[in-house]
Amino acid sequence: MVDIQKILIEAQEQLKNINSSEELSSFYQLYLGKSGKVTDLMKLMKEIPNEEKKNFGLAVNNLKQSISTAIEEKEKYFIKKKIEDSINNTKQVDLTIPSCKKLKGSLHPITIVQQKVIDIFLSMGFTVEDGNEIETEYNNFEAVNVPKNHPARDMQDTFYLDNGQVLKTHTSAAQNRIMKKYGAPLKAIFPGRCFRNEELDASHENTFFQIEGMMIDKNVSISNLIYFMKKMLTQVFGKEIDVRLRPGFFPFVEPGFELDISCPYCNGKGCRVCKHGGWIELCPCGMIHPNVLKMGGIDPDEYQGFAFGLGFSRLAMMTYDITEIRLLNSGNITALSQAKVK
Ligand code: PHE
Repeated sequence: MVDIQKILIEAQEQLKNINSSEELSSFYQLYLGKSGKVTDLMKLMKEIPNEEKKNFGLAVNNLKQSISTAIEEKEKYFIKKKIEDSINNTKQVDLTIPSCKKLKGSLHPITIVQQKVIDIFLSMGFTVEDGNEIETEYNNFEAVNVPKNHPARDMQDTFYLDNGQVLKTHTSAAQNRIMKKYGAPLKAIFPGRCFRNEELDASHENTFFQIEGMMIDKNVSISNLIYFMKKMLTQVFGKEIDVRLRPGFFPFVEPGFELDISCPYCNGKGCRVCKHGGWIELCPCGMIHPNVLKMGGIDPDEYQGFAFGLGFSRLAMMTYDITEIRLLNSGNITALSQAKVK
């Protein structure tokens, strides 16, 4: 007679030593598979005398049931263990670590101020022109009335390229080309990056920005210059700005001026920004020299014009209270991204 109880005990003993799913499936085959021990017992059924069949059948079924349940439980245990192991082996996520902030780009202070000034001049009927950063010596100097060996060249020491061209020292370098392109009358502004061989300090950079403006027409006078400058600066600063002209020498204008504005921070009372004088020197300008008009193909007896060269880096510094010009070219995103469109 087969000892069913013994098979069960044997199976339970074996099961205790099973440590992996693979071993468990061999165990399954051993008992419940096609020619497993329990399956074989079931096959024996035919040979069992009738009166014992019922008990035998019940006992084999119970055995099958017990082994199946034990296998299922072990299987569940393995699955649970697998999940737990993978949790324990994964690097823990520390939810208290600050997340990596996505840095948003922002407009450079120079760009913001430039767009603002461009908008203002566009609304006054000026066109916006481009200038080259690498210029011919002719355009940068001769065409604006600074002949070779003229002492005024010393004011704008620059970088010469091997081919004799220069990095433009001022936006005025585009005057001649624009005059030749459009002839008179014309109203144009031309912003651009300029370069000079400077001793660097908090207010001097070798690379800086200007915006040049030029208006040429019949009967243009200093009054027009004052009108446009006042109008533009009032809009830039968002408050009424007074301007005053002092004589200033630039070979390409006659008469030439330094334009000062009433300090927009203290309204002329005197503060740190205007060094307590109430005025800030902002923009060289003047009436375009007849020689310059002539070189641009414009008859100075018929047309006159004014020109100005607004220091853009300076304007951006004033607008955003930046005290160090070198910051503008520094690529220091933390500092530069603080400038907001006003
Ligand atoms: N180009 C001059 C400079 O950079 C500025 C200027 C422009 C002066 C136009 C007069 C007229 O110093």
